[in-house]
Amino acid sequence: MAASKRSKVTVVGAGMVGGTVAQMLALRDYADVVLVDIVEGLPQGKALDLMQVGPLMGFDTQITGSNGYDETAGSDVVVITSGIARKPGMSRDDLLRTNMGIVRSVTEQVVAKSPDAILIVVSNPLDAMCHVAFDTAGFPRERVLGMAGVLDSARFRTFIAMEAGVSVQDVSALVLGGHGDTMVPLSRYSTIAGIPITELFSADRVKAIEDRTANGGAEIVGLLKTGSAWYAPGTSVVDMVDSIILDKKRVLPCSVLLQGEYGIDGIFVGVPVKVGAAGLEEIYNLTLTSDEQAALEKSAGSVKGLVETMAGFSQES
Ligand code: NAI
Ligand code: 2OP
Repeated sequence: MAASKRSKVTVVGAGMVGGTVAQMLALRDYADVVLVDIVEGLPQGKALDLMQVGPLMGFDTQITGSNGYDETAGSDVVVITSGIARKPGMSRDDLLRTNMGIVRSVTEQVVAKSPDAILIVVSNPLDAMCHVAFDTAGFPRERVLGMAGVLDSARFRTFIAMEAGVSVQDVSALVLGGHGDTMVPLSRYSTIAGIPITELFSADRVKAIEDRTANGGAEIVGLLKTGSAWYAPGTSVVDMVDSIILDKKRVLPCSVLLQGEYGIDGIFVGVPVKVGAAGLEEIYNLTLTSDEQAALEKSAGSVKGLVETMAGFSQES
């Protein structure tokens, strides 16, 4: 019998999020996984540990760890989670500069080995790092997606289900905008079994849930103290990978380069998109109220500010 070609997914950054992505992908059993990190032994150790889950969970996924990119050649999807977290005494600009350098260098190396891959960016600040990956890769916008909206919507869904005491399965929710405190949870489009939450909860409760969603990442950092979330972020990435590798055509909120949609041009920001084998396959251009539109433009404006700051760094060097 001729061997069938398995898909290949590379995950750069074998830290908490990258490790979770690799684990969730291994369980899917539809693609082989290459984990890459600069720390010697880390991706190799995590890969070997995950391979030993295979007999227990019944998957045949090959997981390879590496400190280089040869093993990543011909990847269908590359997930970029490499970066550092903000440390005490470090300014936002310092973090932006460091992660910009990391994402640029990683993207160059990834693209040299996998020129046809679809990139999923995870590193923060997310929407700004999408710009770095897009500019470096030279790929069409269809093949550079940022993961944030899937996570932010999952948080929104969780809080809605907790408020109503219902199954999360019956809750659907939408968050637009950049990944940060300017994100725009869209309550009008968020429902329990099709009923908008604006008809079920008081305006105060809706506002409280929206605020908790926008601060969802910070709430977990405040509890963990030494890092940020990884289970839900890693699982959110795999939702996107599923839709690409299995060509599911899921409609997911992703950070994509807008070219006039929502009246925004040349900025990566989160909007609902159809995700399939080609990556970004369609952008859904919703009609927003004037308040929602203003909030989305404010969020895009904060991404634009980071892009301008990064352009300043590039001119210095
Ligand atoms: P982590 O610190 O556990 O892992 C990051 C890994 O990147 C480390 O193992 C590090 O050695 C590696 N790395 C650094 N420079 C590298 C390079 N040049 N090449 C290859 N690997 C390199 O961090 P964690 O928790 O996994 O988070 C990763 C990133 O994802 C952070 O920037 C974090 O803020 C972001 N994040 C984004 C989310 C989103 O919704 N977009 C959600 C959660 C995290
Ligand atoms: C989060 O939202 C830190 O972006 C990360 O959990």
